[in-house]
Amino acid sequence: MGLTTELHDTPGHPIVIARNAHVAGRRTVLIYGHYDVQPVDPLDLWSSAPFEPEIRDGKIWARGSTDNKGQMLSHILGVEKTLREDGELPLNLIFLFEGEEEIGSPNLAPFLREHCEELRCDVIAISDTGMVAPGVPTLGYGLRGIACCEVILRGPKGDLHSGLFGGAVANPATAIARLVSSLHDPDGRIAVDGFYDQVRPLEAWEREMWAKVPGVGDAEFLQVTGSPGLFGEPGYSSAERTWARPTAEVNGIGGGYQGEGSKTVLPAEAFVKLSFRLVPYQSPKDIMEKVKTHLEWHCPPGVKIEVNIGHDGKPYATDPHSRFGLAAQNALRTAFDAEPVLIREGGSIPIVQSFREILGADTLLLGLALSDAQIHAPNENFPVENFEAGIRLNQALLKELAK
Ligand code: BES
Ligand code: MN
Repeated sequence: MGLTTELHDTPGHPIVIARNAHVAGRRTVLIYGHYDVQPVDPLDLWSSAPFEPEIRDGKIWARGSTDNKGQMLSHILGVEKTLREDGELPLNLIFLFEGEEEIGSPNLAPFLREHCEELRCDVIAISDTGMVAPGVPTLGYGLRGIACCEVILRGPKGDLHSGLFGGAVANPATAIARLVSSLHDPDGRIAVDGFYDQVRPLEAWEREMWAKVPGVGDAEFLQVTGSPGLFGEPGYSSAERTWARPTAEVNGIGGGYQGEGSKTVLPAEAFVKLSFRLVPYQSPKDIMEKVKTHLEWHCPPGVKIEVNIGHDGKPYATDPHSRFGLAAQNALRTAFDAEPVLIREGGSIPIVQSFREILGADTLLLGLALSDAQIHAPNENFPVENFEAGIRLNQALLKELAK
């Protein structure tokens, strides 16, 4: 394509950088993406092989097709097209692609600190978030943060006969169920002491604006998830609950016999994998400390608890009406020929707040992921239409940001 490329090894997966010849006095934009993906299992639920992309019914089916390789590639192809058509880009470009986003980008923040001079930029653009509905261009101006942990409860030294010992020995699976249920009040609020201390109420203008966003009503949440019912913190719509309120989720739970039929066993241990989605002003480290204290305090008697703290990422919010926010809105309007909507996102991209802290640049979230894209699940897909819109979006964006 005519860009200079660099491959940087890290203790984990390599970081890929590409740039054009930078001209002093021009604006510099950094476009970020990630080439790592979440696990593909359960494999038998895929209609085609996850790493052999296939086009069916106007969509590209593969792990990473939406999250994030397809969206990332549309930016690469947009730049390639502009270079082919115009011979040059209207601004200084840095592509920064990494392979550890899905585990909280542990090696990227240190890399940014080490290379902050070469990575200096005016603004960052990312297509790794959602679009509220097909054909509705969506600018994200916020992300939830995240804090993860795994809890293991250990009981007897080995699995026991539940008739011989049940009733006299604490059951780790029962204990973990009680521990998990201690995390929420019956109405869905999180019961961890101090959890909401830093949370600020939603802004009236956001609630008003979001109430008019298409594709994110309760009916659509039910339809896209196939769930028999919605449940969440009282007093908020589904969009508000996912974009602007923190949560505690069980991502996996286990222990004891998992096979066919019954087996009368009292398991030696049980585990749960938890993650907490956080909103602006909450700190992942502070929340994890509060959670750990809560778990240790509420652990039922007769079992030993181990809490392993996992990766995290800070929440993020910016002003969608800033100079660059308006440029992004113009680019979305051009690429989709429709009026963009402004939302915050329920998902997390851990490096975004670090970009602000280390590089001093804010991020534009130009999402192309549809709610039925099945990201992180079997049969992930990306409409060819969105792929092509992404190419147009990149071309329009570079022009708008150069102004
Ligand atoms: N692209 C997603 C985040 C996303 C998707 C935001 C759709 C908004 C709409 C990203 O790759 C992701 O999945 N991040 C993880 C990060 C975590 C594992 C540290 C997430 O949010 O679970
Ligand atoms: Mn993801």
